[in-house]
Amino acid sequence: MNKTVIVTGSSRGLGATIVKTLAQKGHNVVINYHNSEDAAQRLVDEIGTRQAIAIQADVTKRNEIDSLVNETTQYFGQVDVVINNALVGFKFDPVQQKAFADLSWDDYQQQIDGTLKAAFNVCQSVIPQFIQRQKGNIISIGTNLFQNPVVPYHEYTTAKAGLIGFSRNLAAELGQYGITSNVVSGGLLKTTDASATTTTEVFDLIAQTTPIKKVTAPQDVANMVAYLVSDQSNGITGQNFTVDGGLTMN
Ligand SMILES: NC(=O)c1ccc[n+]([C@@H]2O[C@H](COP(=O)([O-])OP(=O)(O)OC[C@H]3O[C@@H](n4cnc5c(N)ncnc54)[C@H](OP(=O)(O)O)[C@@H]3O)[C@@H](O)[C@H]2O)c1
Repeated sequence: MNKTVIVTGSSRGLGATIVKTLAQKGHNVVINYHNSEDAAQRLVDEIGTRQAIAIQADVTKRNEIDSLVNETTQYFGQVDVVINNALVGFKFDPVQQKAFADLSWDDYQQQIDGTLKAAFNVCQSVIPQFIQRQKGNIISIGTNLFQNPVVPYHEYTTAKAGLIGFSRNLAAELGQYGITSNVVSGGLLKTTDASATTTTEVFDLIAQTTPIKKVTAPQDVANMVAYLVSDQSNGITGQNFTVDGGLTMN
């Protein structure tokens, strides 16, 4: 069955790979962007307006997310799946990353807002229609740094750790309404704009210590997301799936 899927922050990077993958499988996709209007529009042109729409919204602003959900519902009739993917103001830069002593609470707050407040906004906005239809699917994008902080990106990884708790609480409360909630945690991705600042040394270290001897590609994560969007995953909720070639093992 084809579904309508909102992917936050999908003008570039992993989000763009996810929307292309889902569109190829016949789903309708909502390309949410903040600044990259041209990139979002190019994706719509590539996929086609029957299956794709680009909508601007800042994930940290509830009123903008409500508009995103309303506009999607008007365009495609309903929302079936939301994917919390946007990455707000962060680069995977092992050289520039501040040591714990140099971080301010504002650094943490930005990641908590960009990850947790964003997922809160999206889920609170969409869940009423999920409950009404007794069906819905929430997928949040996490990181394997939660299990193995190869580089201590404190503020980012702490926010993503919270996302797993957030997702599992939704799974526990909303399963009775036919709503599932899962996390897909990627390894370091080669490459998105956010990981373009990662040094060759870090990429090499990860490839060498990963069982499949490769760094994760955005497509690897998108394939897992596509599985969770499909009805084959209906029996799965409250999980955190790590896609990192076995670098971390649960
Ligand atoms: N890259 C990695 O190595 C890696 C590894 C594991 C997990 N992840 C996860 O994968 C996801 C995507 O990361 P990425 O590497 O693709 O990031 P990216 O290349 O930096 O792209 C970030 C995306 O988020 C959007 N965005 C930023 N601020 C926003 C806001 N306030 N509201 C709405 N959208 C906003 C950007 O849109 P505009 O350009 O339109 O502003 C862009 O589409 C994140 O959840 C990240 O934690 C990434």
